[in-house]
Amino acid sequence: MKTYFFETYGCEMNIAESAAVEQLFIARGWKKSESAQTADLAVINTCSIRETAENRILGRLGWFSGLKAVRECRPGAKAKMLEEAAEYVRDGAKPLTLVVMGCMAERLLQSFQKDYPFIDYVVGTYAKHHFAEIISAVEEGRKPFQIDDSEQYRFASISAEPGAFSTFVPIMHGCNNFCTYCIVPYVRGRELSRPVDEILNEIDLLGKMKVREITLIGQNVNSYHGTSTKASADDVNFAGLLQKIADHLRDTSSPIKWVRFMSSHPKDFSDDVIDVIAREPVICRHIHLPVQNGSTAVLKAMNRRYTREQYLELVGRIKARIPEVSLTTDIMMGFPGETEADVEDTLDLMRQVKYESAMMYFYNPREGTPAAKMEQLPVEVRKERLQRVIDLQLEHTHEQMSKRVGSTVMVLVEGVSRDDKTELLGQTEQHEKIAFKADKSKIGSFVNVKITELSGNTFRGELQ
Ligand code: SAM
Ligand code: SF4
Ligand code: F3S
Repeated sequence: MKTYFFETYGCEMNIAESAAVEQLFIARGWKKSESAQTADLAVINTCSIRETAENRILGRLGWFSGLKAVRECRPGAKAKMLEEAAEYVRDGAKPLTLVVMGCMAERLLQSFQKDYPFIDYVVGTYAKHHFAEIISAVEEGRKPFQIDDSEQYRFASISAEPGAFSTFVPIMHGCNNFCTYCIVPYVRGRELSRPVDEILNEIDLLGKMKVREITLIGQNVNSYHGTSTKASADDVNFAGLLQKIADHLRDTSSPIKWVRFMSSHPKDFSDDVIDVIAREPVICRHIHLPVQNGSTAVLKAMNRRYTREQYLELVGRIKARIPEVSLTTDIMMGFPGETEADVEDTLDLMRQVKYESAMMYFYNPREGTPAAKMEQLPVEVRKERLQRVIDLQLEHTHEQMSKRVGSTVMVLVEGVSRDDKTELLGQTEQHEKIAFKADKSKIGSFVNVKITELSGNTFRGELQ
């Protein structure tokens, strides 16, 4: 029986696509290998969003090149670093097929094909459906073939990891926004919305598995523009899609009780979307609303197409309509031209919104994007500004979470706590972690837990 190994970097889109490809291997009778050293085929799913991410992956490719040499019993291979593989080939060569997919594979396709001959297949973001042929070629011992990356993107029918309680459901692919710092539109192409019926079909399949929570994903879910073949040929916008999903889950008595979505571009977040969330309990009271920066001047240079005031007004409307909402965000510091006054604007915006948590980065120039040609701030300045934002966010996270101690909340139980095997770990509707004592039979179900204390960024609680 053949075995596969996945190493996935990057965002939820990559996690979903790795899971979708993994389903193909499982359907063909392959088994997951815990280690790349002894797998028949290894997939590295890559990300280009920051240079640091790409450098880490290039380092890993060097390691995989050594691994391939050991597996092919070639002289000069660094067997010491790869003891498990050296042991595995004791009786003779057992070649490894190496596949590189994802955004770096798309961005550096030609350079990978030319300068990294040890990579057997370079699978760009539009070509992942070719995995069925790759599997056949490995099974039949055929030589690697060149992959055509010129086709239209295809959504997989299912993207759940085997046995998962939570999963991502892609509803869109690509991005039309061209924020001046961002590589995504270049590696993922233009926006494409998945038809409503396909999304509902996947949700039905997931409900029959162990899935209890789904997150609808896309680079800008608010510009979803799909069609429904069943009811009418009318276009369905994002608010319409959320409503159809809520109705469908209710009509089918689905065991999926939580629906989340990410990411939302603030410029496209309509009042209709706010209304559906307020109306439908199945849609979580948690919104990830990336602001990127709190200064209108920086937002303009970033081509975000909203002002600080418009963002704050949107937050005001959301909080007025959904008072229990928790907001999370992405913030980027040190964009070209950012001044100290701009930094103060960002800190001030954070104090007004009080995010529950945030993904925070310092700006990283990406080749081929407009911002990479602008005059750059010194990297120490970028890092120091990021640190100030992180310090403030830590205070806010503590403050926001502390407010909820004493309340009783619904929790999706995800597994046994790593730190204390006698405890279970779950997550709340607001996407916080909570540990509590309960029987393992509760794993995979929803329970009510009273929050008794906050320890770091994890709640502790008592099962009710
Ligand atoms: N579509 C999402 C949005 O508009 O908010 C963003 C998706 S991007 C995959 C995730 C985050 O990476 C962004 O929100 C941004 O904060 C960060 N990011 C993107 N390009 C970056 C760059 N060049 N340097 C640093 N961070 C970057
Ligand atoms: Fe990148 Fe902007 Fe598109 Fe998000 S909306 S993926 S930040 S270009
Ligand atoms: Fe990275 Fe591609 Fe996602 S660049 S963040 S994996 S869309």
